[in-house]
Amino acid sequence: MNSGLKSAQVSEPLSLCVVGAGYVGLTAAACLAQLGHFVYCLEADSEKVSLLSQGEIPIYEPGLKELVEANLANQRLKFTCDPSQAIENATVGLLCVGTPPRFDGDPDLSQLSQAGRTLVQSSDHDLILVVKSTVPPGSCEALELIFQDTAEDRIRVNVCSNPEFLRESHAVWDFFNPDRIVLGVDEPSLVALDRLYPSDWPIIKTDRRSAELVKYASNAFLAIKISFANELADLCSKVGANAEVVLAGVGADQRIGSQFLKPGPGYGGSCLPKDISGFIAVGEAVNLDLQVASAARKVNTQRSEDIAQRIETVLGGLSNKKIALLGLSFKGGTDDTRYSPAIGLAEVLVEAGAEVVAYDPLANIFGKPIPFFRVESPYVAVEDADGLVIATDWEEFGKLDYQYIAKLMRGYDVFDLVSKTDSIKLGEAGLNLYGLGKGFSIESHSLLWTSLLWAM
Ligand code: UDX
Repeated sequence: MNSGLKSAQVSEPLSLCVVGAGYVGLTAAACLAQLGHFVYCLEADSEKVSLLSQGEIPIYEPGLKELVEANLANQRLKFTCDPSQAIENATVGLLCVGTPPRFDGDPDLSQLSQAGRTLVQSSDHDLILVVKSTVPPGSCEALELIFQDTAEDRIRVNVCSNPEFLRESHAVWDFFNPDRIVLGVDEPSLVALDRLYPSDWPIIKTDRRSAELVKYASNAFLAIKISFANELADLCSKVGANAEVVLAGVGADQRIGSQFLKPGPGYGGSCLPKDISGFIAVGEAVNLDLQVASAARKVNTQRSEDIAQRIETVLGGLSNKKIALLGLSFKGGTDDTRYSPAIGLAEVLVEAGAEVVAYDPLANIFGKPIPFFRVESPYVAVEDADGLVIATDWEEFGKLDYQYIAKLMRGYDVFDLVSKTDSIKLGEAGLNLYGLGKGFSIESHSLLWTSLLWAM
């Protein structure tokens, strides 16, 4: 972590209220306190509040516990369930609650309107409410109307946009090393917002609708990039090319960039799947068919089925096959399993008749029922397995003892969907490696004939 930037400070600290102590709210609260602000974090779950007040963190996020502990100790960070206490001295409230997709994919902003209403009803002074959650353009204006309607006549409520771009597992690093901070403010007199972040940070100040759309468009673009990489990897295996090399070559072009071009089991997590759907819904609301985004979403939705089919082909069926699955969280480095492609794939494999035994070092299933077994060691998961699937890019999966794994498994096939293993090492252990973008296809031979035809 670049600790140098963690010493960044604001010149005129504010009293702030952050609503929500989830991944976004807790990180924002701790990091804003570290910048010098006085932060009350309002959270409805009283058990969580008492845990956090003792410096215990209910989520896994590198560097966050240290920041919470340090800022509890210097009294710049406090937690409470009481909205009046949280807003008493704060003129700026940051709304960091969930905006999950509804059943039809449209965003559900009810937690946000509830959070804002609670603050407004508990306040005896004017408020600037900053929406950090991801919302469609126009939401801040709509929320402002709702909040102003809730507020007593003498209280003025302004709603601004400051979308959050933090990645889970890198959230603290991202906060102190932002590519950009986007502030959407329609009212020029709201100068308090200029004091939220150090003035030398890369701040883009714009109108609210543009700010709201920057976040949707960024996540939609990342999702499109990943779906493109996944399709390209599939094409590579069909034509007998090496996806790793092809994608590295493509990404080396600075206009394209190498990040988010890694093929895998599809994108997951609490943001990308939700935000691309929200982005498409915004288009639909104004009669615009966002076809590129729709295609990227389709590629991702089909991903588990496609991969399961390839596994089925290699194993000669899935019925009564035992599959060891390494990885359950939606990506390596986090305990979060929301919209995890690994779990999606496990469900498809079980549906097709396989028995799945999974291992993950940290994944939190949040008490959700799962149709497969979970064990505490990768070596227990692989016992008598016909095939091994690696579906989350945890570093430790590349360092396992594959000689030992080969002895424990019944079969020989390893499906590494996240490029964590080494084909030579696996080959020496007598295992067959099926990676994405290499080795799944027999069609590559027929391409030679097609190319001959095209060349004649
Ligand atoms: C994302 C955005 O990156 C962040 O800016 C936003 O604030 C929240 O959503 P996060 O959900 O933490 O962050 O995960 P991210 O690292 O973006 O990965 C999302 C998914 O894409 C994961 O399932 C990951 O495994 C997958 N992914 C990512 C790929 O499949 N290939 C890649 O090259 C990169």
